[in-house]
Amino acid sequence: MQARKVKDDIYWVGAIDWDRRLFDELIPLPDGTSYNAYLVKGSKKTALIDTVDPTMEHVLTRRLDALGVENIDYIVANHAEQDHSGALPRVLEKFPAAKVVTTPKGKGMLMDLLLIPEEKFIAVDDKETLSLGNKTLEFIHAPWVHWPETMLTYLREDRILFPCDFFGSHLATSDLYATDEARVYEAAKRYYAEIMMPFRKIIEKNLQKLEGYEIELIAPSHGPIYRRPEFILEAYRDWVFGPPKNIVVLPYISMHGSTQKMVEHFVEALMEKGVGVNQFNLAATDIGELAMSLVDAATLVVGTPTVLTGAHPNVVYAAYLANALRPKLQFASIIGSYGWGGKMVDQIVGMLSNLKVEVLEPVIVKGFPKDGDFESLDRLAATIAEKHKEHNLT
Ligand code: FEO
Repeated sequence: MQARKVKDDIYWVGAIDWDRRLFDELIPLPDGTSYNAYLVKGSKKTALIDTVDPTMEHVLTRRLDALGVENIDYIVANHAEQDHSGALPRVLEKFPAAKVVTTPKGKGMLMDLLLIPEEKFIAVDDKETLSLGNKTLEFIHAPWVHWPETMLTYLREDRILFPCDFFGSHLATSDLYATDEARVYEAAKRYYAEIMMPFRKIIEKNLQKLEGYEIELIAPSHGPIYRRPEFILEAYRDWVFGPPKNIVVLPYISMHGSTQKMVEHFVEALMEKGVGVNQFNLAATDIGELAMSLVDAATLVVGTPTVLTGAHPNVVYAAYLANALRPKLQFASIIGSYGWGGKMVDQIVGMLSNLKVEVLEPVIVKGFPKDGDFESLDRLAATIAEKHKEHNLT
């Protein structure tokens, strides 16, 4: 196993996890992932930036051995989550003189999570620097991308940003660089939707903080390196501050066909009025696809039958997810059916409390939809089209 050269004295020494299909036992990884670690050799000191998931610590140590690394002075822990920090104990065992460089919060978290003794740490302030001789590391505190302790590391002389999770993508690939930008865009958008979107407001500040830095390479700790940093910075600006788009996201479930019939009619009505639709049957949806569609959409409409007086549990899950991810949604509504009663509208509206949405008149029908119900769906579609137009959404 070889290290891969990024620039003179800078090497990728990470691990590619081709087979992983789930993260946090929650997030689907259709394309696997990678845990990128980087070795920076200065004229006087050597630093390792991030480690790898503990399941792949042998891959990291073999790459370091292949490079003939006999000493590491600093291990920079940009983020305490175990997919980057989990191999720290093994690396400290191999290089016992190394110090772990992290934020004050990161130090506390790594002591708690990995039981690393306090004397192993150097806690760094925002904008603090560390000299490796002819290379200088600058640490940029960037909380909440996506834990409270996170920081980014900037290598001044080479103008490389090591942002750990920020700008990353869950993508297992042999490409060291993001050469297939269309593929990386999808993976990075999925990553943003699932991991970063709940912290949109803070990410806006972190993006502004980076404006003063000249960046030639962005080397994240998941997915390929960006040789064209503007590609991912521009994508993030669009996802974070761009206006929502003229799109309805429609997650739904149908048990006996009534809600299905309503969804089919409603989607056609929206399309006829020029509104884009992303329809997801929650019986078979990858939640990552749903999260991605929420990045841009202006409106969420959930479709559900009534189960035990409430919404179908899969729809409850989708509403919980939409609320937790805090997308840019501006409008929401509910369509669905019931047999003899229920409180699913109150239930779903109550679950969207994080979202600053205007709730549009729901369409809930008894039994199978009839002519008047289809007219109600047409009115809801027309209202959505008008609202999007009033807000100049394209
Ligand atoms: Fe890739 Fe938040 O860990």
